[in-house]
This record gives sequence, C-alpha cells and structure tokens, in this order.
Amino acid sequence: MAKIKTIGLLTSGGDAPGMNAAIRAVTRAGIYNGFNIKGIYRGYEGLINDEVKTFTTENVSGIITRGGTILKTARSKDFMTPEGMQKAYETIQKEEIDALIVIGGNGSLTGAWNFGVEFDFPCIGLPGTIDNDLYGTDNTIGYDTTMNTIMECVDRIRDTANSHERIFFVEVMGRDAGFLAQNCAIACGAEAAIVPEETTDVDQLAQFMSRGIRKSKKSCIVIVSESPKCGALYYADRVEKEFPEFDVRVSILGHLQRGGSPSARDRILASITGVGAIEAIKQGQRNIMVGVRNNEVVYVPFSECIRTDKRFDKRLIKVLDELSI
Ligand code: F6P
Repeated sequence: MAKIKTIGLLTSGGDAPGMNAAIRAVTRAGIYNGFNIKGIYRGYEGLINDEVKTFTTENVSGIITRGGTILKTARSKDFMTPEGMQKAYETIQKEEIDALIVIGGNGSLTGAWNFGVEFDFPCIGLPGTIDNDLYGTDNTIGYDTTMNTIMECVDRIRDTANSHERIFFVEVMGRDAGFLAQNCAIACGAEAAIVPEETTDVDQLAQFMSRGIRKSKKSCIVIVSESPKCGALYYADRVEKEFPEFDVRVSILGHLQRGGSPSARDRILASITGVGAIEAIKQGQRNIMVGVRNNEVVYVPFSECIRTDKRFDKRLIKVLDELSI
C-alpha cells in the first residue's frame, strides 16, 4: 500500500453544528502527525471541479465556536454518476491526495464508500448530521446542539401555548428518523411525540387524543417528525376537523434547527472523532466511519453503518407517555 502523505477533507450533505470543530480536529491532528491536509470546498462538487486548498493550522483557527461549515457543503448529484466520480478521481490524482476524509450523513458516507470501492481508494467517514440516524455511533456530530436549539424554541412556544390554552404541533427535522422528535419531546416536557418509528398502523393522533388530552391540562405540545405527508400541518388539520373544540396552532422550526454555535458535547465528539480519523489512516484503515460508542472510539465498516438501521429505543415512548399525564 502506497504511503499516505496528503489527506483531502470535505463536508457533504446537510451542514451540522460541530462540522467546523471536526474540520479543525482533522486538520490539526493531521498536521501534528506529519500529513498535508487539503480542504475541498462544496463537498463532492468541489472534488469534481477541483476546488481544493492546502490547509495550515491557521485556516482552522477560531472555527470551533462556529456553526455551519467553512468548507461549504452540497448534495452532489454529479458525484452519483460514473462520469462525476471519474472527474473526482482525476482531481484526486492532480492534487496528489492519497486518502479522503468525509464529514457527513448517510448519503455522504455512501458516496465515500462507493468511491473507495470503485477506485480502491482509502476513505474515512465522520458522522456529521443533526438527524442522529447513523448506525455505529451513539451520537452524530450536530445532534446534541440541535436538540438544545429545539428545546429552547419549544420552551418559548410553551409560554404562548399556556397563555392561549392551545394545542401546538411543533414540527422538527430528522428526515426519516424520530430521534430528534422523541428525545426533544422528553426534554421539553411535551405531551406527545409523533415519530416515524412508531408502527404506521397505529393512529398516533387518535391514540393521543383518546388518552384524554386536556383532562388535566389546558394546553399541550406535540412534537412531530417532519414528513412529506404526515407532518405537523396534517395533524393540525385533522384536529381542527375531528376535534373542533380545540384551538390549534402549528410551528415548523425548519432550518433554524441546523444553525448556531455547537454545544460542548458536539465540539468534543467532533474533536475525538477527528483525531480518530487520523489515527485510522495511520493504522491503514479504509472504508470505515469513526464513531463513539459507550465512550470508546470505534471504527465501523461503511457496509455496516450504511446498511444497518440505527435502533430507535422504544422505551423512550414509554418514558414520554408516563411523564405526560
Ligand atoms: O439530513 C439533515 C437534514 O437537516 C434533515 O433533517 C432534513 O430533512 C434535510 O436535511 C433538509 O435538507 P435541505 O437543507 O436540503 O432542505
């Protein structure tokens, strides 16, 4: 195996708070261990279009506090084509990059996996997504900050919900996963969460209404996972029609959930996994994601973390149910 001298680094997919801390960690640990680090801008698009810059420690000064990603990000459709991948590989050769570190979610790591296999090239992933839907790591970079952001927003919504005695459906991100919705519902003392992991044949709204909403409470908050068909608007509409005695409002938190300075937990996770990625390269690892499980850094093969669904802890549903009486 050829000796690795230069490492390319990119962020891809939805940005997540803590990505900058991860960029800093990879850059600093890389330079500390004698590697050259090249930052690739705009994710895989930048790899295709040769938007590459050599990074020094100064390039990552003062970024640990900042949300978003200084490398910019994109969801590249071109990279999914054989022609796009080939162009990306040409940039790799031109820039003399010997290994790639990708910070992103499921789609981004799938791209790294395909690229690594296609060109027999060492790729390492860091779990960067607010959704926490990557198997093999307890938490993803960005998840904790986003939970705290949602919690702050819902605390404020609670004030107005109480004052007007209304039902609020608050829609949060998560793509196909309910980790944000379920855990934020617990953290906010919400009355219910509607999540995709709860079996689809259960009418979660009917179940919740029949439990006797408002018997003892004058207002209530339901956290709903985003969904193209069954988001917060769908449930609000149903309550208006089926339970017209209630006053209903909807709040879709949207992209404000993805911004902001990363929490301490996210900065630490990003720093640990960033250092872990450089260590993985030193060990000759390839096609793995660096995660943290039970406080241990773990190297999870892409095949495993991409193909396996992360377990949704159904006990959390019981916790919320028991506490929301
Ligand atoms: O994957 C992160 C995420 O924020 C999802 O929770 C959400 O569904 C999606 O990205 C939104 O993507 P975009 O910013 O492209 O609208």
